[in-house]
Amino acid sequence: MQHFIAISDLSSRAVQDLLDVAIRLKKEYFETGNQPLFKGKVLGLIFQKPSLRTRVSFDMAMRHMGGDALYLSPNEIGLGKRESIADVARVLSGYVHGLMARVFEHAHVTELAKWSSVPVINGLSDYNHPCQGMADALTIQEKFGPAKGLNVTYVGDANNVAVSLLYVCAKLGWNITIASPEGYDLNPAAVELGGQIAAETGAKIIQLRDPHEAVRGAQVIYTDTWTSMGQEEEAAKREAVFPPYQVNARLVGEADRDVIVMHCLPAHRNHELTDEVADGPHSVIFPQAHNRLHAQKAILARLFGVA
Ligand code: CP
Ligand code: NVA
Repeated sequence: MQHFIAISDLSSRAVQDLLDVAIRLKKEYFETGNQPLFKGKVLGLIFQKPSLRTRVSFDMAMRHMGGDALYLSPNEIGLGKRESIADVARVLSGYVHGLMARVFEHAHVTELAKWSSVPVINGLSDYNHPCQGMADALTIQEKFGPAKGLNVTYVGDANNVAVSLLYVCAKLGWNITIASPEGYDLNPAAVELGGQIAAETGAKIIQLRDPHEAVRGAQVIYTDTWTSMGQEEEAAKREAVFPPYQVNARLVGEADRDVIVMHCLPAHRNHELTDEVADGPHSVIFPQAHNRLHAQKAILARLFGVA
């Protein structure tokens, strides 16, 4: 693994292997503290958009393992504006040992990876959110184990988070149903690639309009914001389209009895997810957020070649 850009780039075995490392590092963190495997290493954190989880969990992942992180805000480096991405990548490669980048256009993170001589991690683009996908899979496995055939349902805008969830489910042999309104479907290229992966693992990919039909038999219900970063001017239009896709107590009641409810956060409470569900017995949204830390330690350890 040279860079971490999309879960579709990894084999199923590599995905499970990363999850196993994450489980081991999580246990170690709580029992003895992590070994300083990242000693002497600094991770550059490039942000074109705001962040709570990604920023703090990467910084803490480095510190817990003896390394350090450097936050670079949107205004500071002006990626592709003040300076070309190729030049930024080649300059930073001489200063830091790895780069995490949160970008608007997916092509910007692949361009960074193309020119960087140190590992590049995708911390969210308009196309996908693979670190989130790994933390999601870790959270699901902690509850249900690694067995194939689990039913995961994503309800709402079939966005970047949905794409990484699709890939990780397909890689692990979990069935994924996506219920989204017309015009807010999954990226067709991701459906095509997801379908190829699913054909190898036996996962099913189902796209529906009706959220009620979609959650029937689901062990996982997942939702995300109706308006992602960069789509703010569409917010009013989206607020009119998405209410039938709200994850509320009624919808959760139609799923499996043991269903877990997931959200990558930040949540827009009482829009895509009600308070009652977010703070209710099925919700795993905070352990899920915390798992970003452990999943990313595993990704970093693999990229640095130390685990
Ligand atoms: N889920 C997630 O990536 O959160 P942040 O935008 O706060 O990093
Ligand atoms: N889909 C959301 C995820 C935020 C973590 C966005 O891109 O804004």
